[in-house]
Amino acid sequence: MSLLFQPIQFGRLKLDNRIIIAPMCQYSSKNGELSFWHEQQWASYALSGAGLCIVEATAIRPEGRISYADLGIWNDKHCEQIKTLLTKIKTISPTPFAIQLAHAGRKASCDTPWGAKKGQYQPDESKGWQTLGPSEIPFQNSDNLPIALSISEIKELIDDFAVAAQRSVEAGFELIELHVAHGYLLHQFLSPLSNNRNDEYGGSFENRMKLTLEVFEAVKKVIPDNFPIGVRISATDWVQGGWDLESSIKLSKALEKLGVAYIHVSTGGLHIEQKIEVFPEYQIPFAQEIKKSINIPVIAVGLITEPQQAERILQAQQADAIGIARGILYDPRWPWHAAAELNETIAIAPQYFRFQPRGSNHLFKTYPTKID
Ligand SMILES: Cc1cc2nc3c(=O)[nH]c(=O)nc-3n(C[C@H](O)[C@H](O)[C@H](O)COP(=O)(O)O)c2cc1C
Repeated sequence: MSLLFQPIQFGRLKLDNRIIIAPMCQYSSKNGELSFWHEQQWASYALSGAGLCIVEATAIRPEGRISYADLGIWNDKHCEQIKTLLTKIKTISPTPFAIQLAHAGRKASCDTPWGAKKGQYQPDESKGWQTLGPSEIPFQNSDNLPIALSISEIKELIDDFAVAAQRSVEAGFELIELHVAHGYLLHQFLSPLSNNRNDEYGGSFENRMKLTLEVFEAVKKVIPDNFPIGVRISATDWVQGGWDLESSIKLSKALEKLGVAYIHVSTGGLHIEQKIEVFPEYQIPFAQEIKKSINIPVIAVGLITEPQQAERILQAQQADAIGIARGILYDPRWPWHAAAELNETIAIAPQYFRFQPRGSNHLFKTYPTKID
């Protein structure tokens, strides 16, 4: 029996299998609102057979968006729109949905990847804004200087994460992931390369991780007891003198004490001079080391493209669940194909019941849909 298709528990949430659709920005919003693009994308995720779908980095405030086209959850209209969509999604699939709550900090105010500035910082007034950060250190020299958050602004930021979390629960998400990775605001506070504050939020390791822990606690306080909160981190900045694996292990342990449901292990994104040698599974050693140090699930992600590869990572106890991002864009039925390859059963909508892969008749079971 494969491990990939064994259930796993993230806090109180039980997943049918260990395939996690990793968060992917769609740059398809106006004013942070859902568009038809999201409707088709989320429905596609819901029918994929994945154990959990984590939707894209979703801004807790307008200026926390990476680009003007990012999804947001900073007002009641966003919450209502998402609630309507998730209610529809529930009629076609039981797949749980999670939101990734984010603030881009100094890496905000960028263009979309396919815009004229190709994902780079753009100060154009109609599409850009003043960025914020732990310190006045830009991501790259061509960016405007971010404004360093004052202590009272940090407190407001923490409150806004908490309000966004309340809205996320109200909207129908079953798990919240905090985005502490890829060089965005919470990661910017963690790394000594982007945080040179000399107050209680900078300097020592404890001070630099304080904001992440406070956001976690503030979120936890305002949502139902045992509602699962996961955290995505970059386990290294890939730059000498930056955030590293040792720091990540310490942070993971601190989050475990506070009750985090899992640690999702990515890397990089903080510094323009990062040197990453990218090859299949290049981030797995980080997940493995973190897994050895804590007793909660670890999600591994990054160039995991084949079902057998995912299975081997789990069998080797390098991780407890597998994040798939681009693999799902390429093959939205990746989990079906993984089930077929690993000779496993996966639940599908009855509308698809006549499909049997490769002549087999035992790989699918159906779940009930609620279509009138
Ligand atoms: C189009 C796209 C958008 C992404 N957006 C996000 C995001 O919103 N939040 C995040 O943490 N990572 C984001 N990522 C990173 C992915 O979640 C994932 O970590 C990365 O692509 C490596 O996994 P893969 O090799 O399976 O694609 C994005 C990746 C892609 C390709």
